Amino acid sequence: MSDNKSYVMWNNKGGVGKSTITFHIASIYAEENKDKDVIVVDMCPQANSSSMLMGGGVESESVLQELISKDEPQTIVGYITEATLNGNADINKYITSLSEINKNLSDNLFLISGDGNLELIAPLLSERAESTPLSASDNPWLNIYSIIRKLTQKRISADRPCVYFIDTNPSFSIYTQLAIVGADKLLVPINADDSSIFAISGLFNLMWGASVAHPIYDKYTFATKAKNHNLNLPQIGFLLGNRFTQKIGAAHAFKALSDKAIDKMYAEFMKNPDRFENRNNEIKSRDDFEREFSIELRDFNSAGVVAANQGLPLTKMAKHSYVVYGREIQVAKEQRDKCRDAMKDLVNRL
Ligand SMILES: Nc1ncnc2c1ncn2[C@@H]1O[C@H](COP(=O)(O)OP(=O)(O)OP(=O)(O)O)[C@@H](O)[C@H]1O
Ligand SMILES: [Mg+2]
Repeated sequence: MSDNKSYVMWNNKGGVGKSTITFHIASIYAEENKDKDVIVVDMCPQANSSSMLMGGGVESESVLQELISKDEPQTIVGYITEATLNGNADINKYITSLSEINKNLSDNLFLISGDGNLELIAPLLSERAESTPLSASDNPWLNIYSIIRKLTQKRISADRPCVYFIDTNPSFSIYTQLAIVGADKLLVPINADDSSIFAISGLFNLMWGASVAHPIYDKYTFATKAKNHNLNLPQIGFLLGNRFTQKIGAAHAFKALSDKAIDKMYAEFMKNPDRFENRNNEIKSRDDFEREFSIELRDFNSAGVVAANQGLPLTKMAKHSYVVYGREIQVAKEQRDKCRDAMKDLVNRL
């Protein structure tokens, strides 16, 4: 049993902040846990968190292209390809040491880069997973679906536990499914809007199956196959209310929507508490649930723009102004500090 930890950031809704939060959590987690190696696995073909981690802006794009175009891509596609062919893969061939590329990051932070070709290999992975077993002990479906699960058990150095943060694509494509089953814990970013609230039902239906099974399609779903293969799914660790403080004047309306999202999660918790991470404190009410499972993240405003453009963690943002594509952007100290503290609080609760 390894002492590794693994978190996957997923919501079936796009644009809720998965990649942004992955960047911020991973960079701060690495700074605060120097005795561990922190590895971001970017399982989104857009590779947004990879870009931020590799310094952001145009330069990070060229580094990314270099990794993708190697004969054996030094990306998640390279890793998955080797693992599919050989049943296992050597993590050290595919990681990128981020402090060598982005001097703002600590030297225990690593990346298995995103790669647009994930889209291209997706049908091949599905084909392999659905192929006919060659013997009673052969299980192609489980072999494919365990690729990232096996990755997150690995260490870079034998004496240092690893903490994995997996960024995902919102679509429930096969690579997203691999990412989800790769982690112990699921972090669910949401925004205070109705589509985020609807997406909560989608998340439960896709992972664990709809309460009323579809008469025809049910047997083809991920949820059914995962059950049939006894595949462990991650437990929900936190609901991350992202940008809940976005519009100060509209704070009241935002609160109404965030309350609704928490109500909905609490209803799921009441039905199936085993789908949520165990807490030391007993959850006896909706308020207990909110306190234990919901974390509000602020709108980063200009601090977020600078951080993403320059691959700069909030802890390293010390100046009052930064130049982004030729324009000077002001970042008030109070704002930087509040954003940093909110992110540190999240990291400390993991
Ligand atoms: N707390 C925040 N404050 C300010 N801007 C934010 C915040 N979180 C995310 N954003 C901005 O919102 C946009 C979407 O964020 P991000 O790309 O992280 O979402 P995502 O869930 O990864 O999207 P996708 O589903 O496309 O992968 C980006 O422009 C990002 O800079
Ligand atoms: Mg993203």
